[in-house]
Amino acid sequence: MRHPLVLSGHDQDAITHAAQALRGGGLVAFATETVYGLGADAANANAVAKVYEAKGRPSFNPLIAHLSDTDVAEREGVFDANAATLATTFWPGPLTLVVPRAAGGSVCDLATAGLDTVALRVPDHAGARALLAAFGGPVVAPSANRSGYVSATQAGHVIADIGERLDVVLDSGPTDIGIESTIVACLEGACRLLRTGAIAAADIEAAIGCDLARPKKDDSIQAPGMLASHYAPSVPVRLDATHVAPDEALITFAGARPGGVNDCMAVEDLSPSGSLREAAARLFTVLREMDAKMPRAIAIVPIPDDGLGAAINDRLRRAAVPHTTSRQAETA
Ligand code: TXA
Ligand code: MG
Repeated sequence: MRHPLVLSGHDQDAITHAAQALRGGGLVAFATETVYGLGADAANANAVAKVYEAKGRPSFNPLIAHLSDTDVAEREGVFDANAATLATTFWPGPLTLVVPRAAGGSVCDLATAGLDTVALRVPDHAGARALLAAFGGPVVAPSANRSGYVSATQAGHVIADIGERLDVVLDSGPTDIGIESTIVACLEGACRLLRTGAIAAADIEAAIGCDLARPKKDDSIQAPGMLASHYAPSVPVRLDATHVAPDEALITFAGARPGGVNDCMAVEDLSPSGSLREAAARLFTVLREMDAKMPRAIAIVPIPDDGLGAAINDRLRRAAVPHTTSRQAETA
């Protein structure tokens, strides 16, 4: 089995080497402030094809292009007034903007899955920005996990999931936020929320001064993070648990102790102090740890829905839909 070169994400020589690997059409996993990304040169269709292959992602699901700053982003997309406001307010940061592709942009058709829109994001992470600056162009980076499975928030997760497909892994330690970026489409003068995420919808609405349109039930815009089954462990997930069985593992929050807690297989508290920020940062790591114990199911207590809780509950609802009910699980 091939092993990736694992280098420190804090080391400038390592970043230079990783940028070189990207230029050569290689795959580089790197940390962002949200989750680890599986990076490739967005302009190189062969490299982008390797990303889809490594993830097992259907090629009709487009990828986010990551950029070192807003100037580079404006070469790739057309920013209307709302998009410009959101970029100024939240970049660098965990916001992805879906905008019309710019004429002369370098993101290849395979990366946008043939759409006439492109998803752009300037991450707020020193290592990611150093890599993007060293590379000098857009880098596509879906979350660095197998398609449909729990996202990767540590280099070890990436290596376990898709390590043999990668050329370089830049290890920057656990990611800070732990939940993916919020995705907003700014098209035809309107703003639509495509994926809840690290920035609360209310904060985006405050910046643009109006309500975000929510996805319609029959919306054909494909954002795999919005598919029914996603972020799903291999064992079933049971939400809003008020009781836990002996052969289940329990994920609890703020010290909640549902019935049966003393007799179940394993217990982990996402944040004993009740911090939704800490819970978001630990969510995917704890899901992976519980999954590895192979309980009959993972039971999860109710999590408050305010602030980051909305994104946490969104991920948990999708994690609770079995892979088998829908082949759409084979997504991001
Ligand atoms: O925090 C994040 O956003 C992470 C880090 C690595 O940056 N990336 C991430 O990428 O979550 P991924 O590929 O797992 O999710 C990207 C989402 C998908 O749901 C995809 O369908 C959607 O963005 N997307 C990309 N381009 C789009 C477009 N043109 N229109 C609508 N949705 C789009
Ligand atoms: Mg993903």
